[in-house]
Amino acid sequence: MKALPKLILLTLPLALLAGCGQKSQPAAEAQSGKIDAGRVVAQAKCAACHGIDGASMGPDVPHLAGQNPVYMLSSLGEYKSGARPHAALQQLINQMSDEEAQNVVAYYASLKPINTAKANEGVAGDRLAAGKEAAAQCAACHGADGNSKVNGTPSLAGQHPAYIAGALAAYGNGARKDASMDKIAKGVVDTTAQNLGLFFTSQSPVSRNNGKGDAAKGEPLSGKCGGCHGQQGHSADGTTPALAGQDGAYLVKTMKDYRDGRRKHDEMHTQLAGVKDANLEHIAAFYSKQTPTPNASTKPTSGQQWADRCDKCHGPQTATAPLIDSQPVVYLARALKDYRDGKRAQSSMHIMSSPLTDADIDAVSAYYASIAPRAR
Ligand code: HEC
Ligand code: HEC
Ligand code: HEC
Ligand code: HEC
Repeated sequence: MKALPKLILLTLPLALLAGCGQKSQPAAEAQSGKIDAGRVVAQAKCAACHGIDGASMGPDVPHLAGQNPVYMLSSLGEYKSGARPHAALQQLINQMSDEEAQNVVAYYASLKPINTAKANEGVAGDRLAAGKEAAAQCAACHGADGNSKVNGTPSLAGQHPAYIAGALAAYGNGARKDASMDKIAKGVVDTTAQNLGLFFTSQSPVSRNNGKGDAAKGEPLSGKCGGCHGQQGHSADGTTPALAGQDGAYLVKTMKDYRDGRRKHDEMHTQLAGVKDANLEHIAAFYSKQTPTPNASTKPTSGQQWADRCDKCHGPQTATAPLIDSQPVVYLARALKDYRDGKRAQSSMHIMSSPLTDADIDAVSAYYASIAPRAR
C-alpha cells in the first residue's frame, strides 16, 4: 500500500463502503485512522479473536496484522450490511462509529504481517506427488504407472480422474462391491482419491489388447456405446470411463456385472440387458484393441502452480487484493470454499475459485500458509 491512497481511502465512511451511497468526507477530516485510538478499540473489541498483535487466535480466524486497510474496511462494511455473514461481527460493528472502525483498521494495517512460514514448512501440497505416493499401495495390482499387468484387473493410466475418484467412493460406501477393492477404498479419504485420480490420469496408458473375442464382430455391436464412450472408447466426459485399451477380461466381467445387476447402474444395465456372453467377449476385444489416449490435465497440480495464477492479484506487485501469505490454512481453505460455493459473494474470486476441487483448495491454501508475507 502506498501511503497516499491509504490515507484517502481510510477517510471513506464505513457506510459508503457498505453501499449506502453517501458522499466522501471533506479532506479536512482526512487525518482519521488514528493508530493509537485504534489500538484501544482493538484491545477492547477485537483482540480476543484477532490478537492485539493482529495474529489470529484460532484456526478459522484470519490474521489482520498488515492486512490491506481498504480490504479490511470493505469487509467490515460487508459484515455490517450482512453481505458477508458473521453474526458476532455484525453486532460488534453496529456498535462502533465509522471513526472507530477506521481507527482500528488503521491500527491493524500498521502492524507487521504475521509470518507463519516456518511453522508451516513442508505442508505445501503437490497433489501429483501426493497421488504418486498414495499409488504405491495400488501398484501390485494396477501397475506402478497404472498400466496393470494382471489379467482381469483394470488399468487406470489415462482414465478420467473424476471417474477414478467416483469409483473409489463407490467401493468405499458399498455401492460397488469387490473383494480386492472394498477394504483398500475404505482407507482412502476424498482428497487422496482425487490425488490418486490426478496421478493415474497423468500416466501414459498402454493398450492391453488381450480380449479373447473377435474385435471385428465387436465393432458393429459397439455402435450404440459410442455416444457416451466415444467411437473408439475415448470418452470425453469425466464421469464416463474411457474403454480404449482396457483389459479384456475385466471388461467382460464388469459388463456381465451390469447386465446381471451385480454392479448397479441403470443406464448400463439397460444398454447390456439381453446381450449374450459371446457378444460381450467381442465387444471387449474391440475396445481392448484400441489405442488409449493420454488424458493429461492442463490444470495446475500443485499449490505453487495455482499460486502463479493467484499472484496476479495476491502477489507482491498488487496492493488491492488482500494479503493471503501466511494466513491460517484452515481459514484460507474455508474462504475459498465460501467463494466457490457462493456463500461469500465476490465475482472475481468466484470465477477464480470455481474450477478448484477440494484437493486443489487444500494444496493452494497449504502453499500460501507456508510462505512468509511478501512486502507489497
Ligand atoms: C468472536 C471472534 C471475533 C471478534 C471479537 C472479531 N472478529 Fe473479526 N473475524 C472473526 C472471524 C471468524 C472472521 C472470518 C469470518 C469470515 O469468514 O468472513 C473475521 C473476519 C474479520 C475481517 C475480514 C478479514 C479477512 O481477511 O477477510 C476483518 C477486517 C475483521 N474480522 C475485523 C475485526 C475487527 C476490527 C474486530 C474488532 C472490532 C473484530 N474483527 C472482532 C472473528 C472475530
Ligand atoms: C489386490 C489388488 C488390488 C489393489 C491393491 C488395488 N486394486 Fe483397484 N481394483 C482391483 C480389481 C480386481 C478391480 C476390479 C474390481 C471390479 O470388478 O469392480 C479394481 C478396480 C479399481 C477401480 C475401478 C476401475 C474401473 O475401471 O472401474 C479403481 C478406480 C481402482 N481399482 C483404484 C485403485 C486404487 C487407487 C488402488 C490403491 C489405493 C487400488 N485400486 C488397489 C484390484 C486392486
Ligand atoms: C448413456 C451413456 C452410455 C451409453 C450409451 C453406454 N455407456 Fe457404458 N458407461 C456409462 C457410464 C456413465 C458408465 C460409468 C457407470 C458407473 O459408474 O458404474 C459406464 C460404464 C461402462 C463400463 C465400465 C468401465 C469400467 O472401467 O469399469 C463398460 C465396460 C461400459 N460402460 C461399456 C459400455 C458398452 C459396451 C456400451 C454399449 C453397449 C455402453 N457402455 C453404453 C455410460 C454409457
Ligand atoms: C482478479 C484478481 C484475483 C485473482 C486472480 C485471485 N484473487 Fe483472491 N481475491 C481477490 C479480491 C479482490 C479479494 C477480496 C474479495 C472480497 O472482498 O471478498 C480476494 C480474496 C481472496 C481470499 C480471501 C482473503 C481473506 O482474507 O478473507 C482468498 C483466500 C483468496 N482471494 C485466494 C485466492 C486464490 C487461492 C487465488 C488463485 C486460485 C486467487 N485468490 C485469485 C482478487 C483475486
